[in-house]
Amino acid sequence: MIQVRVSARAVEAEGICSFELVAVDGQPLPGFSAGSHVDVTVGGHTRQYSLCNDPKETHRYLIAVLREPTSRGGSEAMHAQVQVGDVVTISPPKNHFTLAHDARRHLLLAGGIGITPILCMAERLAATGADFELHYCTRSRDRMAFHDRIANAAFASKAQFHFDDGPPSQRFDIAARLATPGEGEHLYVCGPKGFMDAVLNTAREKGWPEAQLHCEYFAADPAPASEGDAFEVQIASSGRIVMVPAGKTVVQALADAGVDVQTSCEQGVCGTCITRVLSGTPDHRDLYFTPEEHAANDQFTPCCSRSKSPRLVLDL
Ligand code: FES
Repeated sequence: MIQVRVSARAVEAEGICSFELVAVDGQPLPGFSAGSHVDVTVGGHTRQYSLCNDPKETHRYLIAVLREPTSRGGSEAMHAQVQVGDVVTISPPKNHFTLAHDARRHLLLAGGIGITPILCMAERLAATGADFELHYCTRSRDRMAFHDRIANAAFASKAQFHFDDGPPSQRFDIAARLATPGEGEHLYVCGPKGFMDAVLNTAREKGWPEAQLHCEYFAADPAPASEGDAFEVQIASSGRIVMVPAGKTVVQALADAGVDVQTSCEQGVCGTCITRVLSGTPDHRDLYFTPEEHAANDQFTPCCSRSKSPRLVLDL
């Protein structure tokens, strides 16, 4: 883990604050690639925030946080508690949302706060001279973070802004834009779950190859992770069997039995808790894996997923 100090804090849009983080010891921070995020621990909550500064920079990380009324505490703690000068603990950057460098063209789609990794990607693609197009959708201009940074960027001509409360002619027409999969064109989407589901479902309906679809969910709907019937998990290394009752997640049941699985988001979006499944059929409830990875049934996210079979044997 890394100790960082908040060196600046700014209001970027209605409900969105940015936080600039620098190393407490004054040393360069670990490098990162476009699409990376860090885990930030504040007020007992650990949440993932994408880095939205230039990946060439090593003297700082920039994150932006939307204050969510339905927050489970993470974004609320960031807004209410974290001030300039505070020291917070973060993880080194991790990237589950990488650019496909063999793509011929890149289509970047951001909804709301989903602009954070997408902006970093746009700047990286612009720096490398890659062919790309950015669509950034928000409910209104007031809620659009980083508007001026994009409007004044060298790649501004490749970016289009769309507002839900604006004239219909400027709204982003998902079905029209995704009507024909571009050859070698890769699609990247980040934003609220409804926006992402609409984009990904449309792309799949229109025949976009799965390998050309890239997404990162920030948060799931309030997940019914503990809802479902009881089942057993068997720990392969010891043979021990742990019952997972209705009302508890696999992670909770294992913790009760003294077996700790590392978690972070606890809602199936970050991948921290991924555990290999040696036999049995998981009931996947995460947003992390692709449909192909779900179908393989050889790994699952025990923070939120359950079992379709009476027993799962886990590689623990
Ligand atoms: Fe994030 Fe399980 S802890 S996917």
